[in-house]
Order: sequence, then structure tokens, then C-alpha cells
Amino acid sequence: MSKPVKQMHLAALFPVNHLTVWRDPRAGSQVEFASYSHLARTAERGKFDVFLLADFPRLVEHRAEISDVGVAGQLDQITVLSALASVTNRIGLAATVNATFNEPFDAARRLATLDHLSGGRCGWNVVTTPDAWTGENFRRGGYLPHADRYLRAAEFVDVARILWGSWGSHGATRFHHEGAHFRVDGRFTVPTSPQVYPLTIQAGDSEQGREFAAATAEMIYSRRLGLAGQAFYSDVKRRLARYGRAPEHVKIMPGVSFILGDTDEDARENAELMQRQAVSPQLAIWYLERTWGRDLSAYDPDGPLPDVDPDPEAAPPDWPGLADAAVRLRRVQKWRAFAAEQNLGIRELVMKLTAGRPFIGTPARVAEQMNDYVQSDGADGFVVVPRFAPGGLDDFVDQVVPELQNRGVFRTEYTDHTLRGHFGLPAPSEHLQKALRRTAAGVGSVRTGAAKP
Ligand SMILES: Cc1cc2nc3c(=O)[nH]c(=O)nc-3n(C[C@H](O)[C@H](O)[C@H](O)COP(=O)(O)O)c2cc1C
Repeated sequence: MSKPVKQMHLAALFPVNHLTVWRDPRAGSQVEFASYSHLARTAERGKFDVFLLADFPRLVEHRAEISDVGVAGQLDQITVLSALASVTNRIGLAATVNATFNEPFDAARRLATLDHLSGGRCGWNVVTTPDAWTGENFRRGGYLPHADRYLRAAEFVDVARILWGSWGSHGATRFHHEGAHFRVDGRFTVPTSPQVYPLTIQAGDSEQGREFAAATAEMIYSRRLGLAGQAFYSDVKRRLARYGRAPEHVKIMPGVSFILGDTDEDARENAELMQRQAVSPQLAIWYLERTWGRDLSAYDPDGPLPDVDPDPEAAPPDWPGLADAAVRLRRVQKWRAFAAEQNLGIRELVMKLTAGRPFIGTPARVAEQMNDYVQSDGADGFVVVPRFAPGGLDDFVDQVVPELQNRGVFRTEYTDHTLRGHFGLPAPSEHLQKALRRTAAGVGSVRTGAAKP
């Protein structure tokens, strides 16, 4: 028997804090509401499942200064999404709210409010946030090692779900939770929202991240594509059974960009042109300086890579992933070998390193590539990341979406009103019961009782 054809899901990401995205001459403001509303409404016109905002609660710095190669600054997401709720009708609205620096009661209140304001379209991307450097903005520098962040995140989600589930037919019931990270006692202030709780999204791909996703997430925003994406897909889907969940209960959606052309050759030329425009000579040097930890401004961006090694003492506090000198040296050695093999100068190398893996081709070709990847179980859909805002999704919606619809793999109309409904996922009461049972059994303790008048 042949496999049933899978329907694709689509999310649109507002591109922010990206190194190159604002360099496109078509780019508008990253803070004007018109930018957000144009992109969200375009995605809704294309019948996307959800519009997603990422969140990096610290500005990109370079050599201890605000980076001047990109655009700095980003608005608070739940506020933006609440405003978007009034100019959209059907598309889901998802906020990234990290579980490391927030508190469950406050996050649950704001997310439940968005679910009310949007009529059940709220999503919550539960991230753990990569670093202590960000934590300095929260007076928590050095706060929580990697594995503990996931324990806090699991308990955070459980507590939030307890709060969301604490309103019964007679109003708010009293809750009590005591665990390793939280002691919460009281009554939740927001009445039950249309979805009961937001669609839960996860982004992070370590062992703990995958396990956390298998236990709690309904959608995963992944960065893995190609063969690595297929391995990720089967690995995460396999983990679900342990939590009594079916493979279709989590939608795996890698982030992708796209470059279109009238012919495939045109599209390839556009890709080269856009990449050259995005990576200025200044950005190319800046990119290397992050890893080298040295001033490389004397080097010719069109010339070969610096022969000096990275400064082993310069642990750049603004790029914690690169804090280890041995990691930086290994990376430089890899780049040198690659540049030598392909005969690349500095700027050309950086163009290759920052190109990502966009789908490139005619709209029909891009639709075909996306669909092939979904049907071969590399993904359940995609987080489409436009190369600029606000107009960067226009061509995709006008040209690629109809191709997907013609192939019968993407909706032509919304059939539901809630975000969870767009994904065809089970109602949360079932998850809620499990969260309550799990919490009661291990992470903490739950006592609920009817509120005294
Ligand atoms: C695709 C993707 C998107 C992410 N987006 C955010 C984000 O918007 N804000 C944030 O603080 N962390 C974000 N993260 C970081 C994760 O929350 C996590 O802290 C990080 O990936 C380390 O966890 P891991 O080792 O499990 O991947 C993202 C991670 C991935 C893979």
C-alpha cells in the first residue's frame, strides 16, 4: 500500500538580529508596526499556520561595542503579537519566551492573555536561551548549566500548564507547586483561554533538548535539513512513544529560506547576487574577527585568510559559543583548508559560510523540493525565513504557495480557528492531565482545591 500524501505546515519567521537581513535595499524598519503587520498578513494571505517571532534578549555586540554591521534592537514580542491579533483573523501568533530568565506565573499570564485576544491563536516557543552572557541582562550571569536549563524548562512548562488548567467551572482553584526550581502557591488570574494553553513549540537539538521536545512540544523549530534533518526527524519521532504520544503529535519544521527566479539559472544568479550584497567587505572582516578574537581590519577582504592564529586569550564574552580557544583554532583550521581547496578569498569564504541552505529555483522547483523533503520524512513543514522584511515573503506567497496548493499538499483555505486546530493536534486537556500527573508524581507536588468565595 502506498504511503498517504502528507499535508505540509508552514510557519513564517520575522527575520530579526540576523547579520545580513537588513542589508537588502528592500528592507524596511525592524520596529515599525507596519513591518510586522505586512509580514503577518502576507503569511495569512498564504494560509500559513503560524507567524513566529524569535527573541534574543541581548543585542549583538562586537569587540564589546554594539555591532554596526546589522540593525540592533527588537520589540517585545507578546506586545507586538497582541497588536497583530487585531489585524489578522486566522493565522497563529507565536512568541518565543525563554524558560531560563522568566517566571512561570508571569509568562503564563501574558501568553493566556494573547490566547484570549487572538481567539485561540497563541503559540509559545519554549527556548532555554544559549548563554550566561544574555543572563547578564537579568542579573543572572553564569546562571544554570545547559542540562539544568532543560530541567527548569520542563518544570516551567508543567507549572504553566497547572496554572492554565486551574480554572474550573466555578472559577479559579487554588494551586500549590513545589519543585527544584519553583515554589508557586496561589490562584491564577486569567480565566481559561480558548486553547486552554498555547501551542507548545521547542527549538534546540541537544540530547536533553530532544527529550524535552518529545515530552512537551507540539511543533519543533529545528535548524537541521538534508540527511541530518532526516536523522533528527526519525530520532525525535521515535522518542515520542516513551511519553505515550503518537508521531503525528509533534510537527517538525526546519527553518529555510528561498531564492526564486524565472528559470533555475536565474535563481542561482540571484542567489549569488543577494549573497554578495549581504556580505559587505566590512561584514566579511567582522565575521572573521569574532572567531579570531583579533583586530583584522588591516586584511584585504578579497585577499587570503589571515595566517596569524586566533588569539587564545581573547575569549569573546559576546560570543559564548566561541569562548573555548581550542574550538576557535579548530574552526580556523577548517576554514583555511576549505578556502585553500576552493580557492576562496575572505569575502568569498564568508559568503559561503553565511549562505545557509536556501531552496533555489523557479517557484515550481522550490515547491517540488519542499514537497519531496516532506514526503520523504525530512520534515512535516517549514519555518520560512524571508531574506528581508517586510516584503520578503510576498513572492513566496504569490508564487510558491499556489504551486504547493496545486500539488494538493497545502491548504487552500483555513478549516479551523485555533492554532492547534491548524496543526490538527489533539485538544490540550489530555496533555494537561498528563502534566498534572507527572508533576504530582515527580517534579513537584500539586494540590488543587476549589476557591473559597
Ligand atoms: C532553530 C532554533 C531557534 C532558536 N531560537 C531561539 C530564540 O529565539 N531565542 C533564544 O533565546 N534561544 C533560541 N534558541 C536556542 C535554544 O533555546 C537553546 O538554548 C540552544 O539551542 C541550546 O540548546 P540545545 O543544546 O538543546 O540546542 C534556538 C535554537 C534553535 C535550534
